[in-house]
Amino acid sequence: MSAQARRRVAILISGTGSNMEALLASMDPAADPEHPATPVLVLSNDPRAAGLAKAAARGVPALAVDHKPYRGDRAAFEAALDAALEEAGAELICLAGFMRILTPAFVARWQGRMLNIHPSLLPRHKGLRTHERALEAGDAEHGCTVHEVTAELDDGPILGQARTPILPGDTPDLLAARVRRLEHRLYPLVLRRFAAGDRTPVMLQDD
Ligand code: GRF
Repeated sequence: MSAQARRRVAILISGTGSNMEALLASMDPAADPEHPATPVLVLSNDPRAAGLAKAAARGVPALAVDHKPYRGDRAAFEAALDAALEEAGAELICLAGFMRILTPAFVARWQGRMLNIHPSLLPRHKGLRTHERALEAGDAEHGCTVHEVTAELDDGPILGQARTPILPGDTPDLLAARVRRLEHRLYPLVLRRFAAGDRTPVMLQDD
């Protein structure tokens, strides 16, 4: 696919960036010449995020917009995000471990063009500590979800889920590691479909 025809993707992170790396690897033209998307920017709200150096090492523009100077003024922080996204010509956003709550105004601007990955089988276990909560609830299975971002936290149309059974002896760390591996498979599959205009959910099972 020609570079002009590809959807331009920005990935927003706050930390390690392992999902970001999986997404970048999947869009590498050497791996998938027909991929309908291309990464144009990796953006972090934390200048110390390890993912920034990983993105730069792959030749993807990587930028920090530190939220701290904007404390108390989310709109100004998001205006700075928007400026960077516009400068990069981003058309789609993938949230990948981005730990700032976005305002309804920002979400509305990107509605239908912004994805998130969450480490649970939504609508179960929105929010934090999802692995602990799945174990405490006695769930039979756990996993991750990619969804479109709407004004409600960890809500919005589901674009894909990957499931793993909860096994006797599982701990939050064991579950987290299994779910993380599933995330790295699921998010690239969903992005590839979504960028081609296909919103049919991707359903994966741990093997
Ligand atoms: C992932 O578990 C993702 O589901 C959640 O934040 C974590 C990001 O991890 N939203 P990484 O930075 O991609 O390694």
